[in-house]
Order: sequence, then structure tokens, then C-alpha cells
Amino acid sequence: MIEVSQLAKNYGTFAAVKDLSLTVRPGEVLGLVGPNGAGKTSTLRCLAGIIPATRGQIRIAGHDLAADPVAAKRALAFFPDEPRLFDYLTVRQHLAFVARIYGVPDHEPIAQPLLEEFEIADKADQLPGELSRGMKQKLAIACGLLHQPTVMFFDEPLTGLDPLGIRRMKNSIISRARAGAAIVLSSHLLHLLEEVCTHVLILKRGEKIADGTLAEVAARFSQGEAAVNLEEVFIRATGGTEH
Ligand SMILES: Nc1ncnc2c1ncn2[C@@H]1O[C@H](COP(=O)(O)OP(=O)(O)O)[C@@H](O)[C@H]1O
Ligand SMILES: [Mg+2]
Repeated sequence: MIEVSQLAKNYGTFAAVKDLSLTVRPGEVLGLVGPNGAGKTSTLRCLAGIIPATRGQIRIAGHDLAADPVAAKRALAFFPDEPRLFDYLTVRQHLAFVARIYGVPDHEPIAQPLLEEFEIADKADQLPGELSRGMKQKLAIACGLLHQPTVMFFDEPLTGLDPLGIRRMKNSIISRARAGAAIVLSSHLLHLLEEVCTHVLILKRGEKIADGTLAEVAARFSQGEAAVNLEEVFIRATGGTEH
């Protein structure tokens, strides 16, 4: 469960996120959409405790992120768009290292199925320099899932993946949600969000301009048509691109 109340993030005097409230329940996948610079990454970084929020309350799996950051962070995983890996650790060593940081005892029965799910089992003894961008992303995701988080934040997780990789990632996200995870996913691949998300939230210049189930948001931006897809909703809601 993710509970956010009146989140704000300022960089100096610039307000990147303003008065944002949202709830994501177990089993739900919230699609965070908005033009470049809308505040998606700032929001996700605040929710994951990577940067401090300027104002607002964030609860992760029942733990207040400000008051009890260790418990909150144990329950969550954050997947940045640019995976950061250790140049001199192999794929397998990455998983062993992350297991130690998170205190996961006997991690191999968890790590091996993750390597297989993300199709990097045959690369287990290779270094990041020997992996493609998509494989690095898959390794970062396998590492993030090792401590079995119940709250997940994905910032553009599909960039750099091939079409099959995108489909597999989509299925991985859906299966985590079915298992009870609460997930927020930012992406510009709107057709894909339509397949993965139960809810969407549209941000523009740091402000929420619409949220709800896909059907609710589509109904709000329909002009009498029967079905409006998310791309059309996005364009109508945000007035095209900015910056
Ligand atoms: N570290 C930072 N310092 C100052 N401004 C920032 C910083 N990070 C992001 N911003 C600004 O905050 C706004 C939102 O950025 P970001 O959250 O990255 O948006 P998005 O992920 O939706 O593209 C942008 O105007 C961006 O320039
Ligand atoms: Mg971003």
C-alpha cells in the first residue's frame, strides 16, 4: 500500500511537484504520465526516499517514510530509468551483494528464478560491461526484486528493451501486482500502460490534473465519443508537449 498526502518537492524556489495526494492499494498498478518535466521522476524519487520531500506525508506498507525510513525502504524497490551497476561485479555477484545489503539469508533460491525470469541466467558470470543496455536493466530489476518488496516504483522501465523484453517486463509487473504488490509505473508508452495499469494519474507542471481508473479518466476527457484511448486523453489533458 502506498499512501501519499500533499506531497510537494521544491528545488530551490522551483516547485517541481505541488500538493500531490494518491493511494495505491495492493494489487493496483498506477500509471504516472505527463509531459517531459512534469515531475514524474521527482515524485518517484521522493516516494522511494531517494530525495527528501519538501512537504507532505508518505506511507509505504504502513510505515511513515520520514519517521521510519528503514522499515519503509525495506518494503519498497525503486527502479530508475538508468540502471546503476558495479563495473567489477558479475551478474551473480550483484545479486549476492544486494542480498547482503538487504539481509536476505540464503538468497540463491530467490535469485535463480529471477535470473531465469529476466533471461540473464546464461550471463550469470559476466560483468556489466559485457551486457547490453536491456540486459543491464533486467539485472537492476532482478536485484531490486530480490528482497521481495511489496511496493514498487518503476521510472520508465521499458526504455532500452526490445519488443519481447517489453512484453516480458509487462508480464512481470502484472504478476507482481496479482501477487499483491502496489506499483507505480511512469512511462510514455501509453498503449502499454493501458495493458498494465489499473489506474492512471496525469501530471502537468507538477500538478495532478486527473486521476482514476482508465475508464474514469477516459470518460472525463471524452467529448461524446464511446471510447477514448490513453494517448488521446494525454493529449487532451496536457495540451500536447511542453518545454
Ligand atoms: N535536481 C534538480 N534540480 C533542479 N531542478 C530539477 C532537478 N531535478 C528535476 N528538476 C526540474 O524539475 C522538473 C521536473 O523534473 P522531473 O521530475 O525529472 O520530470 P519528469 O520525470 O516528469 O520528466 C523539471 O522542470 C526539471 O528541470
Ligand atoms: Mg523522468
